[in-house]
Amino acid sequence: MSDRIHSLSGYIHEYQRSVNQPEQFWSRIADSFHWQKRWDKVVDWDFEGPDVKWFLNAKLNITENIFERYLFTHGDHPAIIWEPNEPNESNQTITLRQLYEKVNQFSNAMKAKGVGKGDRVIIYMPMVPEAAVAMLACARIGAVHSVVFAGFSSNALADRINDCSAKMVLTADGNFRGAKSIPVKAVVDEALEKTSTVEKVIVFERTKEAVDMKAGRDIWWHDAIKGQSTECKAEVMDSEDLLFILYTSGSTGKPKGVVHTCGGYMVYTKYSFENVFQYEPGDVYWCTADVGWITGHSYIVYGPLLAGATTVMFEGVPTYPDAGRFWEVVEKYKVNQFYTAPTAIRALQAHGTEPVTKHDLSSLKVIGTVGEPINEEAWHWYHSHVGKMKCPVVDTWWQTETGGIMISPLAGVTPTKPSYATLPLPGVQLVIVDADGKELKGNSVEGNLCIKYPWPSMIRTTYGDHERCKQTYFSTYKGMYFTGDGVKRDEDGYYRILGRVDDVINVSGHRMGTAEVENAINEHPKVIESAVVGYPHEVKGQGIYAYVICDMENRTEENLTNEISETVRNIIGPIAKPDKIQIVPGLPKTRSGKIMRRILRKIAEGDTSNLGDTSTLLNPEVVEAIKEGAK
Ligand code: WTA
Repeated sequence: MSDRIHSLSGYIHEYQRSVNQPEQFWSRIADSFHWQKRWDKVVDWDFEGPDVKWFLNAKLNITENIFERYLFTHGDHPAIIWEPNEPNESNQTITLRQLYEKVNQFSNAMKAKGVGKGDRVIIYMPMVPEAAVAMLACARIGAVHSVVFAGFSSNALADRINDCSAKMVLTADGNFRGAKSIPVKAVVDEALEKTSTVEKVIVFERTKEAVDMKAGRDIWWHDAIKGQSTECKAEVMDSEDLLFILYTSGSTGKPKGVVHTCGGYMVYTKYSFENVFQYEPGDVYWCTADVGWITGHSYIVYGPLLAGATTVMFEGVPTYPDAGRFWEVVEKYKVNQFYTAPTAIRALQAHGTEPVTKHDLSSLKVIGTVGEPINEEAWHWYHSHVGKMKCPVVDTWWQTETGGIMISPLAGVTPTKPSYATLPLPGVQLVIVDADGKELKGNSVEGNLCIKYPWPSMIRTTYGDHERCKQTYFSTYKGMYFTGDGVKRDEDGYYRILGRVDDVINVSGHRMGTAEVENAINEHPKVIESAVVGYPHEVKGQGIYAYVICDMENRTEENLTNEISETVRNIIGPIAKPDKIQIVPGLPKTRSGKIMRRILRKIAEGDTSNLGDTSTLLNPEVVEAIKEGAK
C-alpha cells in the first residue's frame, strides 16, 4: 500500500492534517507497515532533554518490512541492480528473494562469529551489493551498524571504532574507483592497531589484491557464509532500539555519532522516498551516493527497499571511463528516477552536452539533487540537458540528523523553482528565527532554520554523549531543533537554503568541520597555528582554504604545503585536503584572542574591498600581509 500524494491540493490537505493532528497522521502512515506488536502511543517528546520517542513500545524488524512483506508477491523482482566500476565487467541483478537469502546467510555468519543484538559493527566497504547485505544483516540480527565511508583514513576509522566500541569490522580487500584501485583492508589493519575492541574482521574479496589475513581475527566473507543457512529469524526490536550510528562532522571537535532508531526511521524513509520521487511499481531508481553517507543509507538501501523498489548501486565514479558514464548507465537500465549531487552536475557540466546527448535518457521521469545548495545555472543545465525540460527537478534538503528528506518538491506535484528546495514534507514544521531566536513569521524573511515539532526519523542522541546532542541541536534556540543552515522564505512561501551558518563547510556535498581540518593541520610538527574557512569553488561548491602559521626553518613554502596536505590526508582522508594553503605570518585576532574568521573568509573569497573595521584587532598589520600573500 502506498501513501503517495498525487496533487498539489492533496499535498496541502495532507500537510495541514500532519500539523493539526500529527499523531493521527503518522499513525495512519505507520499502519501500513508490518509490526510484531503495535505501539501504545505515537510520539512522546521533549526538546529540552532532548527525549524523543516514536511508536512507543512497538516491536518490529525493519528487514521484515523489506523482505517478508513483499517476498510472496515480488520475490522475483529485481531489488538491487549493481553496476561495477568497469563498464564491461559483468553487472548483477539481485532479486528480492536472492537478497533475502544473502542477508539471512550473512546474518547467520555474523552470529556464528559472536555478534548479537546491540553489538556495534563497522562497515568499511566499497560500493558492492555486499555493503547493503552487511547493513541489512546487522538490522536483521539487531546489531547496530556504523558505515564508515571507505575513503576515510585509518585514523578516522580508528576514532569511529573506538567511539562506539565496535566488536566487528566488515570490509573488503580493495576498492575500484575509476582508474584506481585503493587498498581497503590495509587501512583497516592500520586502524586496528589503535583500537582494542574488534574481535573479528570479515573481508569481502573484490579486487583480489594481496592482503594480510590475521589468524584468528580475519575471515574471508566467502568462508564465513559457507554452510550457513539462508534462513534467519528476524530479531524482535523495540521501535526505539538503535538501528545505526552514522558519524558526521560538526562545528567543534571530532565527528559525532548520529543515532537513528528502528521504528521512526523505517516509517519516514519509506514515506519520503515514495512521495518525493513518486516511485511507481516497476520503476528503476538510481541514487549515485555512497552508502558511507546518510543519502546512501536512506535512499539507496532503506527507503527504496522498504518501498519494494528496484535500486541501482554504482561502484564507480561519474567521469570514468568518461563523462558520459552516468548517462550510459541510465540508458542501460532505463532508469526512471535519478538522484545525484550538485557537485557531480557541475563537474559534468564542464564537459559539455555531448556526453549527455549521446545517450537515450527517455526513461527518466524524475531527477533529484542533494547535499548542498544547487546554483541556478547547474539547476537549468540539469533540467534542460538531463531532464529534457520534462522531468521535475527535486532539490531535496535534509541532513544526517534528520534521517530523511525534509524540504523538497514532490515530483510532479509541487511546482518547482530553480535553486529552491520549495516546501516542507508533511509532518515537518519549520521555523525561521533571527539571531536572538525570535521567530520570523510570514513570507519574504531570511534567518536560521529550525524545526519545532519532532518527525519520526530525527536524531535521538549522539552516541555515548547525550549532552553533545543537546548542546549542538537543542540549546541554540529554546524548544527547537536547530539545523545549522541559513534559509530564506520567499514571497510565495518557498524555501531556499542559503548554506551553513556555523563553522561547517560543505565540500562537494561532504560536511567538514573547520575545527576538524585545523586539528589535522596542527598535527604537522612545523605548524604553529591554523585557521580554515570555506570559499566559493566552481565545482565543489565550497573549497577548503587554510591559513597556516609555520616554523619555516629548513623548509620551503612548497615543501610545507605539500607536507601539510599529506598530513590532512593521513588524519582524515583525501576529501579533507585543503584546496589552498597559505603560509601567513599571523592570524587576525580580537583583543580577547579570537580569530576573526569573517576577515579570513572575505580574503579567501577574493573580496578585500570591504573588510570592515580592522583597527580594533590585536594585530591589524597581519591583515595587509595576508591580503598580499593571497594574491
Ligand atoms: C546541506 C546530506 C542546500 C545543508 C543529506 C545541510 C543542502 C547539510 C541540501 C547536511 C540542499 C543538504 N540544498 N543545502 N538540497 N541538502 N544540504 O548531513 O547545509 O551530509 O545542513 O546530509 O548539507 O549534510 P549531510
